[in-house]
Parts: sequence; structure tokens; C-alpha cells
Amino acid sequence: MQQPFSNHRLPPGEGHVIDLQNLDSILPTLLDLNKRYGDHFKARFAGQDSWLYVLSHPEMARHVLARNYKNYRKGVGIDLVNVLLGRGIMVSEGDLWKRQRKMLQPMFNRDNLHQLMPLMSDCTTRFIKHLQADMANSKPVNITEATGHAALNFILYALFSEDLIRIIDETGSNPFLMVTDESDRDLLFARRFRGLSKLILDMIDRRKKEHRRPFDILSMIMDASEKSTGEPMPQKQQLDETLTLIIAGHETTASALNWAWYLIARHPEVERRLIDEARQVLGGQPPHPDNIGHLSYTRQVLEEAMRLYPPGWLLTRRAIDEDEICGIHTPAGTDIFIPPYLVHRHPDFWDDPERFDPDRFAPQRKASLPQGAYLAFSIGPRNCIGESMALYEMIIHISMTIPNIHLQLLPNQDIELQALVNLRPKHDLYMQASSQQ
Ligand code: HEM
Repeated sequence: MQQPFSNHRLPPGEGHVIDLQNLDSILPTLLDLNKRYGDHFKARFAGQDSWLYVLSHPEMARHVLARNYKNYRKGVGIDLVNVLLGRGIMVSEGDLWKRQRKMLQPMFNRDNLHQLMPLMSDCTTRFIKHLQADMANSKPVNITEATGHAALNFILYALFSEDLIRIIDETGSNPFLMVTDESDRDLLFARRFRGLSKLILDMIDRRKKEHRRPFDILSMIMDASEKSTGEPMPQKQQLDETLTLIIAGHETTASALNWAWYLIARHPEVERRLIDEARQVLGGQPPHPDNIGHLSYTRQVLEEAMRLYPPGWLLTRRAIDEDEICGIHTPAGTDIFIPPYLVHRHPDFWDDPERFDPDRFAPQRKASLPQGAYLAFSIGPRNCIGESMALYEMIIHISMTIPNIHLQLLPNQDIELQALVNLRPKHDLYMQASSQQ
């Protein structure tokens, strides 16, 4: 085993180049270098002089993401996201980020989540109906697409509620579906996505004119103000945060659900325990605030699925000033990669890391994990603002579906990872749905 904080002041790995033009190659390259050097090594980006440090020890992740987070800006990849999300909270820095985080955080509080639970159940019911329709037509389910739609539906209704229904009624289609219909995340997509801005600004204007505030996140964004000054959020910022929540709120959840179904299908003993728990806790009813906490095994399965397949598989940062990360000298301007995909497989913290074992997240074992060993939602002040919302949504999705529907993987599928912004399967996954016994 490699000593994590040994005496070299620079990490090993002289001479390696990461090709940012070939995004598909990044994860395989990191896996290869991780095998060779262990939990910290360095490389360069083609054509650049400064270093890239790739860190996958929990303590190093903790240093960069939590302890000394102020010294790190968001890193590589953020330029494209900038075009997509403007100055939204995912990409903003400094005072702007701090102000926005304070204004947005309360929207994800427990009370609001409880009020959103019926919507989460409705979206799951639609998902189940979709599977049943495929079943009736003896058609395999495209589970990648179906989980994508379920996650997008939820975030859109959570954001726009009755206005989305009106738009669909008026136009006969859902203009936001382009988000799941197009899988490329290039500049062209970014421009088309920004094209949805007019629709959102119209919604805001109309609500203002009609003095209407339905219970949804858009209303909360419109009414948010800075506590100290009482200043409302500027309209351009309202727009950027709304667009941010559409993207951040659905792609990750869709990816997590896709992989959760894949793993459940491959582990009948896990499926059995999920069915038993759901039947015992829910008795055929949707979860409610008093019993969602009892679906603890369901939560463990999701946490373990996101350990093996973390939707946000790579966190990127750039050092502002020079720093010392666990004894490693880090010059100002150094790019940092912290890949949850590697951290979650660190052999010192995860026994038999490739094995799917939801019991790793049983309360006592989970409590003994050091901070930084599990990064599915990241840690520190810039962690995922939607963590609880995503967990509620996914627990409801699995626990309502699994007592009714059995999903079996179709044979001979090429299960290849596509590690771009999120960790997705390169080819959509297909499953055969049948009634659960
Ligand atoms: C399974 C689902 C999800 C996963 C795995 C996930 C993961 C993450 C991760 C790893 C980050 C940190 C990114 C970084 O530091 O570079 C993040 C940030 C963020 N997430 Fe999530 N996320 C999920 C769902 C959601 C949902 C449902 C929402 C909102 C509706 C959301 C909104 C955000 C926002 C706004 C940020 C930026 C926070 C900030 O910079 O202050 N996420 N998420």
C-alpha cells in the first residue's frame, strides 16, 4: 500500500498528459494512472505548463473541498457550464455565490420537501404506468430514458407547477423535453438550452402581473431576498438559478436511478430485501413524512449505487494561492481533480471495493467512514444543495415501484461507461418489466 502523505513534495507522475479534447479518454486514463501511482499523482493538460494534481485520498479531498475550500475555485469544465448556466450558483464564486447559496438554501428545507412528496409520488406513478404500458405491449423498457423522464418531470413540476401544465395544454408539448431528448452537452446544446430563457421570463412576468405565487420553487426564487439588505434577487439571476436547477436537479438523479436499477437487477437478494421493506413500511401506500425515514435499506441501496457509479464522477478545482495539501506542495494555479469514482474505490476505506454491498451504509458502518471517503454529493460549503431532495425523490421512486414491478436486464448488452459531465451508460440500458411476485 502506498503511504498517503509520504515525503515527496510533489506527487509522482512526471510526463503524463490528459487530453481534454478527448473527454471519453479521461476516466480510463485516470484509472490507469491510479493503478500505477495510487491515490495522488500529477499530470498536465496538453499545451499547458501548470500542473494537474489528481487526488483520491479522502483526507486530501477534505482539505480541498472543506477545510481550505476558500483557496479553490471551480476548475476545468466550468467554461462550458458557464455558457449553459450563466452566473447560476453551480458556477458562481466569492460573494455572489455566498449570497445566492444563502437565498437558495431555505428552499430545500424539510418542510418544503414534505410538501413536495405528493409530487414525487405522482411522478413515480407515471413512471410505473409507463413500465406497465411497455409490459402490456411486450416491449422492453429503455430504463435510461424512463429514469431520465421521471427525474426531469419531477424537477420541472417542482419548479413551475401549474404553469408547466398550462404551457403543455396550450402548446400540446413540453418544450423542456429537449433536455433529455438531446444527450450532447456541447456549445450547440448550451445555446439551445438558453433559448428556454424567454419561456421562463414570460412565466415570471405573468406571475407578477397576476400577483400569483403557486407553491413551487420558481415562486420561492421570485420572492427570495437578501436577509441583511432586503434586496430581491435580480431577474437575470432568477433566470440563471432556474436554469441551473433544471440541469443540476435532473441529470444526476436520472443517472443515479439508472445505475440503481441496473444493480438491483443484478442482485436478486437486494431486490428481495427492498420489496420486503417497501411492503412492510408502506403497505401499498405512497411514502409520507412520518415513514420515509423507515425506508432505510432503500436509502442504503441508493447510497451504495452512487458509490459505485457516482453521477458526479469528477470534481474539478483550481488553486487560487499556493497551498500544502497533506504535505504536498501545490503552486497557485494548479488544477485539481478529485474523482469520486476513484475515492469510492480506495482500498484503505472500502473493503472489496467493486462489490455491490448496500450494508456498507448500515448506520454504524456509515458512521465510521471518515469525512471525504464518500463524495456522491460532495462535502464542504459547496456540497450539493439538493441532496435531501434527491434522496427523498429516489427513495420514493424505488420504494413505490419495486413492490409492483420486477425489472430484468436484457442479455448481451454492452455496459460501457460514458464519463462526461455525469456518469452515464454509453448505450441506453434495456430491461424487461414484469409484475412483481
Ligand atoms: C442523485 C442526485 C444528485 C447528485 C449525485 C448530486 C451531486 C452533486 C455534486 C457532487 C455537487 C458538487 C459539484 C462540485 O462541487 O463541483 C452538486 C452540487 C449542486 N447540486 Fe447536486 N446532485 C444531485 C441532485 C441535485 C438536485 C435534485 C438539485 C436541485 C434541485 C441539485 C442542485 C445542486 C446545486 C445547485 C449544486 C451547486 C451547489 C453550490 O455550488 O453551492 N443537485 N451536486
